[in-house]
Amino acid sequence: MRYRGMRSDPSPERGEAVPDDKLEVSRRGFLQGAGGAAAGALLIQPDAAAAPKARKSGEQSVTLMVNGESRDVSLEARTTLLDALRIRLEDPLTGTKLVCDRGTCGACTVLLDGDPVCSCLVLAVDAVGHEVTTVEGLAPEGEMNAVQRAMCKHDGMMCGFCTPGITVTLTAFMEAQPAATREEVQAALSGNYCRCGTYPHVFDAALEAGRELQEGK
Ligand code: FES
Ligand code: FES
Repeated sequence: MRYRGMRSDPSPERGEAVPDDKLEVSRRGFLQGAGGAAAGALLIQPDAAAAPKARKSGEQSVTLMVNGESRDVSLEARTTLLDALRIRLEDPLTGTKLVCDRGTCGACTVLLDGDPVCSCLVLAVDAVGHEVTTVEGLAPEGEMNAVQRAMCKHDGMMCGFCTPGITVTLTAFMEAQPAATREEVQAALSGNYCRCGTYPHVFDAALEAGRELQEGK
């Protein structure tokens, strides 16, 4: 898994109260989204034209491109992309999971310009001017992609908490290398931990998705 950007202090926003209606997650929606990662610290500079405007409160207003949509969000410079997605957006995207918050588990994986990154290690302001794709963005019209379909077919989840990150990682990897071997899939997923141990099913799903992608499905 590649990691873009590092930070050493946990965001204080974790302690903020979040309205219940912002945290409500439909299990069905999550599973549909989930049904259905990358090295070297690379700090992404915001585009000058898209530079955030400073606000008196200490927050700044930035525009993130998420799942093909332009999303305005007010946040502090230290806010991670993960927190921006899950907490700061007006319509939060909670498919991306917070687990370790330190780049070790891969549950927070999103695509940044098509590359898997741990969103807990990326500052939201560094994502300005770049395309962010979350697990919700893998099936924008409700039609699952090859990896999502294969994950469902092969029962590639138990609790499902790792599933969004695994699905995002696998989508990027299998679309780039549909003929990947089981060993290559295992290596690609080395940054995504599944505490329930569904790995054999996930590897089977990856190989099936690869076959589908090679057939143009
Ligand atoms: S929550 Fe980001 S890697 Fe674990
Ligand atoms: S399915 Fe539970 S952590 Fe992977």
